[in-house]
Order: sequence, then structure tokens, then C-alpha cells
Amino acid sequence: MVRVIDLKSHDGEAVTLKGWLYNKRGKGKMLFLLLRDGSGICQCLVMKNGVSEEAFEAAKGLTQESSIIIHGTAKVDERAPGGAEVVVNELEVVQVAEPYPITPKEHGSGFLMDHRHLWLRSKRQMAILRIRSRIIKSFRDYLDNDGFFCVDSPIFTPNACEGTSTLFETKYFDETAYLTQSGQLYAEASAMALGKVYCFGPTFRAEKSKTRRHLTEFWMLEPEMAYADLTDVCDVAENMLRYTLQQVLEHNMTDLEDLERDPELLRSWDREFPRLTYDEAAVQLMQWQKEGKYESNFKPGDDLGAPDETMLGEHYGCAVMVTHWPAEIKAFYMKQDGEGHALGVDIIAPTAGEIVGGAVREEDAQVLLDRIHAHELPEEAFQWYLDLRKYGSVPHGGFGIGLERTVSWMTGVEHVRECIPFPRTMTRLMP
Ligand code: 4AD
Ligand code: MG
Repeated sequence: MVRVIDLKSHDGEAVTLKGWLYNKRGKGKMLFLLLRDGSGICQCLVMKNGVSEEAFEAAKGLTQESSIIIHGTAKVDERAPGGAEVVVNELEVVQVAEPYPITPKEHGSGFLMDHRHLWLRSKRQMAILRIRSRIIKSFRDYLDNDGFFCVDSPIFTPNACEGTSTLFETKYFDETAYLTQSGQLYAEASAMALGKVYCFGPTFRAEKSKTRRHLTEFWMLEPEMAYADLTDVCDVAENMLRYTLQQVLEHNMTDLEDLERDPELLRSWDREFPRLTYDEAAVQLMQWQKEGKYESNFKPGDDLGAPDETMLGEHYGCAVMVTHWPAEIKAFYMKQDGEGHALGVDIIAPTAGEIVGGAVREEDAQVLLDRIHAHELPEEAFQWYLDLRKYGSVPHGGFGIGLERTVSWMTGVEHVRECIPFPRTMTRLMP
């Protein structure tokens, strides 16, 4: 069996393709079957005098998404979509599909979301999934090649990482457990063992927001490094993202084309990310508001809202790093600079908004304990975390990158619900 993506290297050879009928065109004695097999879509030419009578009749009767096996000869042809086609000499019908609910005509997004299990087979969704897969591989390859070890964090946890207001609670025998909001606290423990680690897995937030950037279940990759400062954290995030842009450009050109995404845009983002402090960003945002360049309620001290992130992304035309945040609006674990700033970094990407949140962690046991009290977190549940500050505590830091928002950024797909196979949101648990 040959996969569509490899067809070009089999010019003139007998090949077998296994897949599904994406679409069909025909005129009299000639049928064009568009076969998709997940790696791509290929045009298969069925001629009445090139196959048995039964096979030709069977081809004529194929419905959208029927499963088929095709035997034929590969032919490189620059005019064919994908650069090659197959001249068919034998056809096996595995199943003739029932009338397919999703047709090439327009459907509403609610209908498509209800049929997500089938919608995944459309050209656009397949392209998004392939780019998602490439992004995951690139993140991991980059870190693996840079001496990081993959160490997983648990999903059932006894405590909050990112604030208590977005916790999903679940019964855990006679106790209460929470679905993890972030693997970070455990990654810190792993980093004290292996030096440079990352965890990658699903994370959960009971977000009561219905924006195009929020899911209740999303995937996050979280590198954590012992003996690292804020510059180290920023450097790893930037280099990993630039490597990922390069990999997508190298391997996913057809997918970008299917998404009508200009590759030059991605190429232009492969540059040094501007780094500015929160205070610098705040001055600029206030200035732009005054000049009427955009509208927002933002004032210094506030967290950035969607319009502020959009404005920053548009102004710089690439991913921007904002560092040194007001400590009050950041998490309890962030180390401070003594002037009220948390040593944190957010990366804001054009249109996708915040894709990365990272920081240097407080490494002093007493300061951290005071912080836990100030945030009214249950001290009991954090004893093990405080231990890390008692036994060989070192400066350390890391970040979390949201996979779906990164996919949204690179693909240009506006809504994160299309950037994950089966989205979970406030209003959706099915399919
Ligand atoms: O900024 P956040 O909350 O940071 C953390 O969780 C840290 N503990 C990470 C760390 O330092 N190891 O989340 C990190 C990223 C965000 O920048 C965003 O990309 C994504 O996770 N994210 C979401 N993506 C989709 N839906 C949501 N509800 C998200 N919340 C955060
Ligand atoms: Mg954040």
C-alpha cells in the first residue's frame, strides 16, 4: 500500500491506495474519483475500457465517504492536485456510505460541531489536524534535542495551580480531587530531579467565558528548568516557537494552502521577538488609546484584555514578549523583583492573543509560604511543594504554552474549538 503523500516517488509503478471517496466527477466513459487517505487527496482516473464492467458500475455508484481500495498505476503530473494521479485498473468497494450529512455546501457552525466526528474528514479540518500534529512534534523535538526530558505530571490533583475559581472538582473515593489546571508544580519537582524537563498533557479550566480563545480542556506543554532566570525562560520559548514555524513551513505547505494561509506571514514571524516590560507596554497602550488608535478600558495595573493583546500583536506584527508584571495580577508562585513586579512573561501572538505564560518561581520556603497564606490556599496541600524549597532549592523557571492557541496562531483559524479534535467548552461536551 502507498500513501497519497508518497505517490510522487512511485511514478509509473503499480500502486494500491486505501481510503475514502472525497468527491467524484464524471463524464461518460471517464470518472475522476478523489480519494483521501489522511495523508492527502489524490485524483484517480477510472476509464470504462480500463477496468472491468462491474468495477466501472461500482465506481459510478460510489457515494461521498465510501471506503475504497484502488489498484492502478501512479503517474506524476504537475497539473494534478498533489502532483500525481493514479490510473485505475481495479477497484474494491469496502463499504458504500450512507448519504453523508456533511456535503460541500455551507453548514452552520452548530451543525458542524454536532457532527465533529465526521467534520474532521473535511479538507480544512484535516489540514488543521496535520499542522497540530506537526506543532506537537516540533515542540518535543526542539526540547528533546536541547537536553530536556519528558516527565509527565498527574491529572488528578489535590490542589490548585492557577487560582481556585476555575477548578473542576471531582469525587476521588472519600476525598475531593481537582482536574489539573497546569502540570507546573509537579514539573518543578521533576526539574529538581532531572534539571531540564517538560510535561505535556491535557489541562482543565472551568472557564465561564465563551470567547474564541477559551476551552475547558486544552493541551499544554510546560518546560521547567533548574538554575534558570527570566532570560533563559524567554530564550527557550522564543527558540522553540521559531523552530516550530520553520518546521510547519518545511512540512505543511499543502495544508497551509488548503487553509488559504499565506506562508510568507509565517516566515515573517521567524525573527527575534520584541521584549518589553509590562510598564512599557502599559505606557504604549495608554498612548494608543489617547490617540484613538483602539478602544479599551485598560489602565496601568490591569491585566491585558483581548483588545489590548490584539493591538500589541497588530502594532508589532509578530509575537511579543511582555515581562515584569504587577505581582497582584499574577500567580502565587512567581518570584518578585522587590519592586512589586512578578518575574513573569506572557507571549502575545497576532490574532491568537496570549499563547505562553511563564515565570521564574519563588525559591524561598518562607516567602512562598507567606504567599500561599496571602492567596488563601490550603497550606496542607502544598507541603510537598514547599519541600522543594527545603531540600536543595535553586533558582528555576519555566513556561506553559497552550497548544490550541498556537495552532490558531499558525493556521489563522480564528476559534480554538477548531484547533482541537473534540473541543470541550462551557456549552459543549458532545460528541
Ligand atoms: O498563563 P497560564 O495560566 O499559565 C500556567 O498555567 C502556568 N502554570 C504555566 C507554566 O508556567 N508552566 O496558561 C498557559 C497557557 C496560556 O498562555 C494559554 O496559551 C493557555 O495556556 N491557556 C488556554 N488555552 C485555551 N483555553 C484556556 N481556557 C486556556 N487557559 C490558558
Ligand atoms: Mg496566563
